[in-house]
This record gives sequence, C-alpha cells and structure tokens, in this order.
Amino acid sequence: MTDRQKLFSAARAAAAHAHAPYSNFAVGAALLLDDGEIVTGTNFENASYGLSLCAETVALAKANSEGKLRRVVEVGVIGGMIGAGGALSGDQPVRPCGRCRQILNEAAQIGGHDITVHCASADASVEESFRLSDLLPHAFGPADLGIG
Ligand code: THU
Repeated sequence: MTDRQKLFSAARAAAAHAHAPYSNFAVGAALLLDDGEIVTGTNFENASYGLSLCAETVALAKANSEGKLRRVVEVGVIGGMIGAGGALSGDQPVRPCGRCRQILNEAAQIGGHDITVHCASADASVEESFRLSDLLPHAFGPADLGIG
C-alpha cells in the first residue's frame, strides 16, 4: 500500500467519528509524520455553527499537542455526505478550506518543508495530490514573524 493509500484509509476510518449533525457531511484527515506515524482528525461541529472545526485543523492541533507539528509531511483528506448506516457518498474530492490551508502552512513553515496534500472523493472515483505551496501561494506564516 502506498503512503497515499494508507492516508486515505486512515482518513476514511477517522471520518466515521465525525461530529457533523448540522451539515451531515463527514470529513476525515490523516497526517503522515516523517517517521511514518499517522495522526488523524475529524470535523467537529458545534450547535453554534461558526465554532465548527474542520478535520484537518483537528488533526493538526492533535499532532501539535503531542509535540509533532514539525514532523507533518503529508496529509490525506476524504469526505462526503453521511447516508444510511453511516456510509459516505460523493464523487468530488474534499480539498482543504482556506483556513485549513493556512493552518497547514504553519506546520509546513515550522517544519521547514512543503506539505503534500492528497484529496479523495468518498466513492474513491477521484484522487488527486497537490503541494501546499500550490494551494496557498505566497503564504503569510511564521517566517514573516521571524519564527521557524
Ligand atoms: N470540512 C472539513 O472538515 N474539511 C474541509 O476541508 C472542508 C469542510 C467540514 C466543515 C463542516 O463540518 C463540513 O465539512 C461541511 O462544510
């Protein structure tokens, strides 16, 4: 299994734990660390809608809380509408939102490398990969504040 396949598999498993009763759209994110470890996250919605957190952000906060922010090298994201029995559906890949791109950039600059972003649709019909620097060009980050 390739790293990309491992990340999609871990992200899909994580998405089963999404707390998404308002959008009914579950997302799982899986971070690959430089030693092969995988850290996952799911979206975590709130009755006060604007407080909701995306799966990528949750995974990054989790990695940071374990002292692993600098070690994130790749991320896999998958998601879709929650159907009967919890099955996810959708033929469009889930790409990180703008806020998550910025938070990924924090890990990338602190770690001193670009991050590869893999995106998949729930039905696995579309899988694509990007460099974070292409998804968020000319980013503002820790380096602009002399950190990193
Ligand atoms: N969501 C994520 O978790 N990650 C993304 O990259 C896009 C959107 C979540 C936020 C919200 O809980 C639901 O998907 C619908 O927008």
